[in-house]
Amino acid sequence: MIKYKDRVFNLQTDKTSYIMRIAESGHLEHIHYGGKVTDEDFTMVNPIIKRPWSGNPLNDGSYFSLDNFRSECPTYGHTDFSEPMIDLLLDDRRVFDFRYISHQIGDKHILKTLPSATSGPFVETLELTLKDTLYDIYVKLYYSVYESLDVVVRSLEIINQTDKKLTINKALSASIDFADSDFDMLQLSGAWARERHLIKRDIRSGTSMVDSKRGNSSHQQNPAVAIIRKDCHEDYGQAYGMSLIYSGNFSCVTDVNDYNRLRVGFGINPFHFLWDLKPGESFETPELVMTYSSQGLNKMSQNFHAFIKDHILRGLHQYKERPILLNNWEATYFDFTEKKLLELADKASQVGAEMFVLDDGWFGKRNSPDSSLGDWYVNKDKIPSGLEGLSKKINEKGLKFGLWVEPEMISQKSDLYKNHPDWCLHEVGRSRSETRNQLVLDYTRQDVRDYIVKSLIEVFKNGNIEYVKWDMNRNITEPGSKHYASGEIFHRYILGLYDVLKRITEACPDILFEACAGGGGRFDMGILAYMPQVWTSDDTDAHERVKIQDGTSLFYPPITMGAHVSAVPNHQVDRMTSLETRYHIAASCNLGYELDLTSLTVKELDEIKLQIEDYKSIRKTVQFGKFYRLKSPFNSNETAWQVVNEDQVLVYYYRALSVPNAPMTYLRLKDLEDGKYEYQGRVYTSDYLMNIGIGLMPEKGDFKTRLLRFKKTS
Ligand code: DGJ
Repeated sequence: MIKYKDRVFNLQTDKTSYIMRIAESGHLEHIHYGGKVTDEDFTMVNPIIKRPWSGNPLNDGSYFSLDNFRSECPTYGHTDFSEPMIDLLLDDRRVFDFRYISHQIGDKHILKTLPSATSGPFVETLELTLKDTLYDIYVKLYYSVYESLDVVVRSLEIINQTDKKLTINKALSASIDFADSDFDMLQLSGAWARERHLIKRDIRSGTSMVDSKRGNSSHQQNPAVAIIRKDCHEDYGQAYGMSLIYSGNFSCVTDVNDYNRLRVGFGINPFHFLWDLKPGESFETPELVMTYSSQGLNKMSQNFHAFIKDHILRGLHQYKERPILLNNWEATYFDFTEKKLLELADKASQVGAEMFVLDDGWFGKRNSPDSSLGDWYVNKDKIPSGLEGLSKKINEKGLKFGLWVEPEMISQKSDLYKNHPDWCLHEVGRSRSETRNQLVLDYTRQDVRDYIVKSLIEVFKNGNIEYVKWDMNRNITEPGSKHYASGEIFHRYILGLYDVLKRITEACPDILFEACAGGGGRFDMGILAYMPQVWTSDDTDAHERVKIQDGTSLFYPPITMGAHVSAVPNHQVDRMTSLETRYHIAASCNLGYELDLTSLTVKELDEIKLQIEDYKSIRKTVQFGKFYRLKSPFNSNETAWQVVNEDQVLVYYYRALSVPNAPMTYLRLKDLEDGKYEYQGRVYTSDYLMNIGIGLMPEKGDFKTRLLRFKKTS
């Protein structure tokens, strides 16, 4: 609910308030974000204090200064020395001063050029319009309030009504000024095959940043952070979560000034960004999703999970159970024949899988990573029946058919490159850096996008393709294009990508899309708005996956994560783990298999058959249940997760290394509904399970797991 009274806006959700005030000067002032406040008098908040070195932009004899003001839309100059939210250039002038002129409250604001969170019951948007005191430049701040989910979504629009070119150096989606800086920051950082490990850092005086300059949101840093009180943990304390609906370069900067004011700015990375607005043009930023929890990180994650399931995912598969698949990548890599694929599919069908996915290597002359990206026609030497014939044969085995593509790339060894050597991003006269032998297609160009959309729709309609894995295997290194200035390329690339994704997903609404960027190099809400699940990591080792999946769960729900059982020794780390362990870890997300089933023993295939049967009985809970972290792999040898849905409760337990003469582990469940729960033939009360817990007997061996299933009986 959005309330406005006496120059104060109170954006209230069930448990939170976001409060702002129009200051006497017309500047928009932040009062509070956090637990719900119903009071209406905020005169005692943010008193004006005499500070010797803080100037007064009003020259009214008071001690008013933006230097220690809590601004909703900070710009540089006029006494504000901290990180600005926007930075503009008009006629070589760089100091602007935006003040309130009007506001309106209406339906959910929907962006024109970028994916937006969807609307729903009890969702409304406050649109605040500010204007520069000198020029006809307008800034609109949007705040969409999701009352029942405790979420506020912010974005910004800059409108140039002058008769001159306006250059945007920086336009963030949100900036929040907290009254103090007594916080830590949680970020999800890593590398290829080691994505989204949880890192906690102190917030200190001065600025610090997490960002991506790679063209994609990246393996290295995820565009989501939590700002938490020092005593906050999973079940206690104050946590602010922020996550950007954007798949390109982002930055999140914390800036603590001399009076301990913490400013957090989040949005498109201003690095290598310069955007020209002609007279009459406007620019909109991505949406930043924010939630606040007074009950620690678990609740913050649950708010995000619910929000993503209901307002980021969309389309036919949003609330549909996801199929159990066999992917041939780690089984064959590029080395396969149609016969081999059909043998794999035979086994997949025997063990009860539901879909067969043909990964890389089916098109052009592609037998290694060095060729054919862009040539989206089937290699009949490898697949004589073509995609139509192959998908039919796979369907006859009772399996759906899925296909891998990497449509944002071009190989120099390809027909497409021969015909269009200028279709890749490049700087004229400079070398074109290859990564994995490939270049990036110039998605800023309409003709390139049209070609890709047309060729992919042709592929997807040719054969019964019900799933597509959309891969992307490199960063952008030369952001150059014939049509646009260099500072616009990174953002225009993402706009182009979203245009392609929109057109393809609308043309093929039945297909389930899974995003992939060398695993989880683009795990963000922008991508999830088009593709409702992501291949979480190229690392399929169960031990490594525990950290990756746990870290990812800070913001993203299990239904967005693909997880596969693969072969041992594991291909990424050479580790041996049992089939049971591999299953348990993968079965906490969208389950798949990615190994050569034809080389397994009958006993192993029987075990997999039982696993798949088991997963079918828990899938609804895994994918649509409420997720809790019980023990963290980042600070212990043990990990535990709990998922609750309807009358089923699942608890996943993992112990990394064996402990000699080990103590008992008691798994205490969280937040159970009152009642009785059956586990292994015995009935427990909810208070027993939450207070005493289930004791696990010490067991020898490394990388051990348990999957405990509880059924609510009353
Ligand atoms: C990277 C992906 O993450 C893998 O799963 C696989 O699809 C390869 N690309 C294929 O080239």
